[in-house]
Amino acid sequence: MSVKSLGYAVIETQDLDAWRDYAENILGVMSAASAEDDVLLFRMDDRPFRLRVQKGEQDRFIAPGWEFSDKDSFEAVIARLEAAGRTVERAGVMEARGRQVYELARSSDPAGNGLELFYGRFYDYVPFVSPAAVSGFVTGDNGDMGLGHIVLTAPNFDETHAFYKEVFGFRDTDLGRFYMMGGGPDDPGVGFAFLHCNGRHHSLALGQMPESPNGAVHMMVEVATLEDVGRAYDRVLRSKGKVHLSASLGRHVNDKMTSFYMRTPSGFDIEYGWNGLVIDPATWVTTTSIAVSDWGHRWAHEKDD
Ligand SMILES: [Fe+2]
Repeated sequence: MSVKSLGYAVIETQDLDAWRDYAENILGVMSAASAEDDVLLFRMDDRPFRLRVQKGEQDRFIAPGWEFSDKDSFEAVIARLEAAGRTVERAGVMEARGRQVYELARSSDPAGNGLELFYGRFYDYVPFVSPAAVSGFVTGDNGDMGLGHIVLTAPNFDETHAFYKEVFGFRDTDLGRFYMMGGGPDDPGVGFAFLHCNGRHHSLALGQMPESPNGAVHMMVEVATLEDVGRAYDRVLRSKGKVHLSASLGRHVNDKMTSFYMRTPSGFDIEYGWNGLVIDPATWVTTTSIAVSDWGHRWAHEKDD
């Protein structure tokens, strides 16, 4: 009855051409046919799409699309959302077909982050071919580890954290606390919750921080080789400032992801990584990490010392 994976992401932009250029030439994801005007769909594997980029008034991350395994678990999560006092909007058949799923619903979490729920998959079996020669995106067997992870803000941290565990069935992987002011007695630290719903170390992370102006802190996509990360890093460096590099190459302590961060045309960041930790959810013991990276990940706003 729990959520299975991060199935897709819905993104809004004022500039579809900029997104197409970024998606194909920097990320290396593949354009897929879209039946809707002003909507771009991008594939990362054999799913019909993993990124849905729609034209709108804003530049922002709109919603993760959380996958459920069947109608029973879909109905069960809707019942739990309603019991938790969240408004749920069921989409019509045509809109569900636009997402190439059987049924679709929309809601939000207690921090105000939008979310979508769905079950059922359509496949057309067209092979994935990266326009930037990425060797592959890591989404697990059958795509069951999902497209990557999403990091959202939750000023009402405890309430939002409990919501995702109780309503969605996420489980704690790591309850990080990061001391940005040196870790003295006056430094309360910033709470993070890294949550799993399959073998991926985290599909969702929540940060105890003010609402992000672009709807998300970052979204992570994972590629098959270190060379794929390095070549993407080169593509950003060679973009002559068109693509902002948000953080240099580095490796995270908790999910062991070797990655860098860059800004999307919708203002939030994408983490582009390799070699993320796959856990066994049956035996995992929750950790508390008090560091972020064991090397690298120097943020653009940090001053050189
Ligand atoms: Fe991340």
